[in-house]
Amino acid sequence: MVSSAQVVNIGDLRRLARRRLPRVAFDYIDGGADGEVTLRENCRVFDDVTLRPRSAVVTQGCDLRTSVLGTDLALPLLLAPVGSCRLFYPRGEAVAARAAGAAGTVYVLSTLSGTRLEEVRAASSGPCWYQVYLCGGRDVALGAIARARAAGFSALVVTIDTPVAGLRERDIRNGSKELLSGRPWSMLPFVGQFLARPRWLVDFLADGGLMSFPNVVLPDGPMPYADVGAALEQSAVCWDDLRWLREAWDGPIVIKGVHTADDARRALDQGAGAIVVSNHGGRQLDGVAPTLRVLPEVVEAVRGRVEVLLDGGIRRGGDIVKALCLGARAVLVGRAYAYGLGAGGEAGVAKAIQILRADLVRTLKLLGCASVAELGGSYADVPSDWRREPSRTSEASASGTLF
Ligand SMILES: Cc1cc2nc3c(=O)[nH]c(=O)nc-3n(C[C@H](O)[C@H](O)[C@H](O)COP(=O)(O)O)c2cc1C
Repeated sequence: MVSSAQVVNIGDLRRLARRRLPRVAFDYIDGGADGEVTLRENCRVFDDVTLRPRSAVVTQGCDLRTSVLGTDLALPLLLAPVGSCRLFYPRGEAVAARAAGAAGTVYVLSTLSGTRLEEVRAASSGPCWYQVYLCGGRDVALGAIARARAAGFSALVVTIDTPVAGLRERDIRNGSKELLSGRPWSMLPFVGQFLARPRWLVDFLADGGLMSFPNVVLPDGPMPYADVGAALEQSAVCWDDLRWLREAWDGPIVIKGVHTADDARRALDQGAGAIVVSNHGGRQLDGVAPTLRVLPEVVEAVRGRVEVLLDGGIRRGGDIVKALCLGARAVLVGRAYAYGLGAGGEAGVAKAIQILRADLVRTLKLLGCASVAELGGSYADVPSDWRREPSRTSEASASGTLF
């Protein structure tokens, strides 16, 4: 179904995911925090940036290759950590990792995944990174980190924007928490929407039904779904944690959730190999600026000393091009592939990547640019009020230009 001619863009995959998934699962992917202002802005802000093509330039092939943390990628696009993928499709994390590997890119596995990290690593022929939350405390996280190293994950992604779960109003209205409590009678209100999605229901039950988090192993076993909010709040990551995490992990560390120049410099001081400008896809603090808007400030602050990635709102290859023009080395996508997974498993994720790859090639050709490596500020215009606007505490952006 996902290969049909009707699937032209990521919005089409979203529509198919909505058709296959029960509302409680679709809204979990699709929703954001509070009034969803940042969620909407993350997407809309790409419209503010306009492209500057070199016309009458023929580019035969377009080179999409890049490298991140010394790892070669076939395209400047990684799959972001998305928790609970197994609710969308059987063994969803392994399925998405396989599609990422086949496309020659990185899969980032969330701590809050429903599939064992060893199985996910084995499913991909490409590089995998492990995203760490400290649910259950340091010892529990250390156990997962040791397993991730033994399994062959090559970088640790530390998410720093989740001191508490954001208020996802759709999840509250849908009764997600009650559902995930696992009590049989709490399922009753959901029977109607589950039966209305028989394909999903059969897959879900065949995959074992409601699960726990096999990579968060507490003294009494894997952490159940119901405990997530409390566990996140009890174990928020702070800058001090970076010190012991650096000792526990001898590979590169990526800090995900940077919004400002100051935090970017702080991440640099803590020895990060890369940072991700991210607001968690508008799922945490609503009202923060869209990521594309803060990217130039961050790029300028770190001055090439650390690789800068961006996520949030990427739905088209043209969005990726704009992020690269503004200084991102590569982007991560979350919902774009999660919709594909919900729509049709591995074929859906592969389709999402294929759509974005084809967009990238076409956009580069139309720009008259032969490779992603050549993209830069001269290929894009930002609104005039984006330039030279001092951030409140950053001395760097008070004095410099954006590019
Ligand atoms: C359903 C869902 C679950 C997510 N789970 C996690 C997670 O467990 N850890 C994390 O660091 N980020 C998580 N994120 C955030 C993504 O990694 C990424 O920052 C975000 O999706 C990017 O925005 P986009 O969805 O507009 O591409 C999640 C996002 C979604 C949509």
